[in-house]
Amino acid sequence: MMACFSFILSSMIRLGCKAVAEAVMSSIRNETELFVKAGNRAPSLAVVIVGHDPASETYVRKKAEAAASLGFMHFQYSLDEDASEGELVSLIDSLNSREDVDGILVQLPLPSSISPERIIERILPEKDVDGFSPVNAGRLLIGEECFIPCTPKGILETLRYFGIETAGRKAVIIGRSNIVGKPMAALLMRRGIDATVTVCNTRTPDLKEYTLGADIIIVATGKPGTIDSSYVRDGAVVIDVGVNRIPDPSRKSGFRLVGDVDAASFGERDVSLTPVPGGIGLMTVSMLMANTLQAARRRAK
Ligand code: GUN
Repeated sequence: MMACFSFILSSMIRLGCKAVAEAVMSSIRNETELFVKAGNRAPSLAVVIVGHDPASETYVRKKAEAAASLGFMHFQYSLDEDASEGELVSLIDSLNSREDVDGILVQLPLPSSISPERIIERILPEKDVDGFSPVNAGRLLIGEECFIPCTPKGILETLRYFGIETAGRKAVIIGRSNIVGKPMAALLMRRGIDATVTVCNTRTPDLKEYTLGADIIIVATGKPGTIDSSYVRDGAVVIDVGVNRIPDPSRKSGFRLVGDVDAASFGERDVSLTPVPGGIGLMTVSMLMANTLQAARRRAK
């Protein structure tokens, strides 16, 4: 009878992030009100997009909507696909020197003719609200105050919101990008967060050797089906960072979104998983707003 009972209680926990993102936005809204009441101008964000990648256009629109909903000032610059690196550098230089711009974000990926490294390095570290510049990346690694990249910061906020302990837990990250994998590892290693971190990639032989021992698995490869239920032990937490567009003629948009994790394979297993859509993707935008407020505060000092 007991065995039957525990079987009924065991079910996958869906770590939906809508409420987490709303809580973050509501606290930023309150803090912004106080900041403005204290005589400061509203935080301001400049977003630059080059070309017409549909996913990038959607992300940039969401960033603009979030900024507007908080009463932030928002400037958007849309450059043609064939814009030169020099044009983009000149735009960044002018945004760097403007008093009324606190944060600058250049949406990635950029067309192949433009070096993302040179562009990111050009943004003043104190306006680099993505946290991608070498100065902010280095500060994160050595534990100094910095802008923390929005997706890893959103993942940490999600773990905190759901009361998921990191100290002394084994975290396995799959993916080593500068946007997610590497800063996520640096963040989880920080004093006070104290996870034991392993970073794998899609070329790691026998991924299961690592994931089956993990308490927290963060999957950020950009490849649907990177892991399924057979890679995860009972009681583990799986954070799915992927947002992949899969053609789907039955949808008006012509596509549907899937993560990097084969979510359906988990059935009713005792595993906690962030969904796609409705998961970590929602956190990235709110964390960008938090970083923009942080930039405005620092520059107002
Ligand atoms: N492209 C995908 N994610 C991001 C992000 O967090 N920031 C920027 N600038 N571009 C992205």
